[in-house]
Amino acid sequence: MAYNSPEGTVDLLPGAARHWRHAQDVAARLFSAYGYDFMETPIFEQTEVFTRGIGEATDVVNKEMFVVRSGENYRRSLEAGTDAGLKGKSRLSLRPEGTAGVVRAVVQHNLVEQGATPAKLYYAGPMFRAERPQKGRLREFHQIGAECLGSTEPTADAEMIIMLVRFYEKMGIPASDMTLYVNSMGDERCRPAYRAMVRDHILSHADEMCEECRRRADANPLRAFDCKNAACAHVMASAPRITDHLCDDCRSHYEAVKSYLDVAGIAYEEDPTLVRGLDYYTRTVFEVQSNAIDAAQNAIGGGGRYDKLAETVGGRPTPGLGFALGYERVMLALEASGALAEASPYVDLYVACVDATVRSVAFDLVRTARDAGLRVEMDHQGKSLKSQFKAAGKMNARKVIVVGPDELEHGQVVVRDMVTHEERTASIEQSKQLLSRFSGDVVDDSTFAAPTQG
Ligand code: HAM
Repeated sequence: MAYNSPEGTVDLLPGAARHWRHAQDVAARLFSAYGYDFMETPIFEQTEVFTRGIGEATDVVNKEMFVVRSGENYRRSLEAGTDAGLKGKSRLSLRPEGTAGVVRAVVQHNLVEQGATPAKLYYAGPMFRAERPQKGRLREFHQIGAECLGSTEPTADAEMIIMLVRFYEKMGIPASDMTLYVNSMGDERCRPAYRAMVRDHILSHADEMCEECRRRADANPLRAFDCKNAACAHVMASAPRITDHLCDDCRSHYEAVKSYLDVAGIAYEEDPTLVRGLDYYTRTVFEVQSNAIDAAQNAIGGGGRYDKLAETVGGRPTPGLGFALGYERVMLALEASGALAEASPYVDLYVACVDATVRSVAFDLVRTARDAGLRVEMDHQGKSLKSQFKAAGKMNARKVIVVGPDELEHGQVVVRDMVTHEERTASIEQSKQLLSRFSGDVVDDSTFAAPTQG
């Protein structure tokens, strides 16, 4: 029996994997300009890191988390008919997002000492949510995320948002095809009263709303803003707006963030109904949506401030903020905008053999060039010269060196430029020396020495 990858997962085959590597390279280069260091956390954490960090009442935790059990613990729970006896540290879940784990690690390793400069960290890897799979909504998907811990200043919020927008620009998403939405969700001083207002609004329209929103009224009333039900959307359109109920500090923080974005020339729209699906947010929240893809999955990234999260996972008060972008969604957005460049494989050089007698010479040439750091390929299947050229073409080789017995007798090889199709002869010994000392970016004619006389 042959098996397929599990529902809602995809294999990153070489073509797609090249795009994934490219996205990580773009992030690495860009984020380092903003002072970010790469880090990794485990793919599973103690479940409580997520239930406490992200919030028990969120869909991500409540409905979508994949529980992890060791075989032994699973068997015991089956036998006992309950896993109530399982210790906290044996209750594990696959990470549905990266922030809770990063903040857990920051607290555990005391990465933000009192008064120290903020910790700026980024990560890239798979996340897991048991959602109903569809285009752009996977059960295993990939995020690139950044978190900054230790700053309350609105400049940090603006910097984070600018970095995210620059990432999309560098990936090639046209500015006209995406929209940045911003909002402030207030803090522990102003939000409780606002939440109560929204709850009252929902309860006073309870008969018009879906069962889920009615149920959410107490536990998570702000999520009703995200309900796709038309009647609920109608009710929520007249709900109180957070931006009318921010305390003075939250208001001035929000105004400052926007003014820094204005100065940087970053276009944004204010959306007072943007509440995001995770409980840890305070003050600034933001989301970038692609205008070119289906509305149900058009969020290509988002984030915000979470000044209470470190305390929630057992640490000292440490302000923080961050974002995560969905790699698969970015790919969909690029494709929909017609901006997805093919990530073709390429080699700098292909060394072709005219017949088997020259194979060891070709092999040595390939090794020399590879040791110098060049991407080089040769045939390992005894293919004809014509087939070797075909293979070189498929690999987008810039140059092909043809090693043939006749030329070799005179210490020479033929070098073909695969773009112009021009051919010339070159001295094999001197070319080898030049290749072994190669230090440029592109293999061109200067990489090969003129033929030896004789
Ligand atoms: P999030 O909005 O839940 O935020 O996810 C960020 C991005 O991940 C989304 O905008 C979307 O592009 C992508 N994404 C989410 N779920 C799926 C899925 N099932 N399939 C494909 N892509 C998906 C967070 O995860 C927060 N940790 C962001 C953050 C970092 N906030 C502060 N720091």
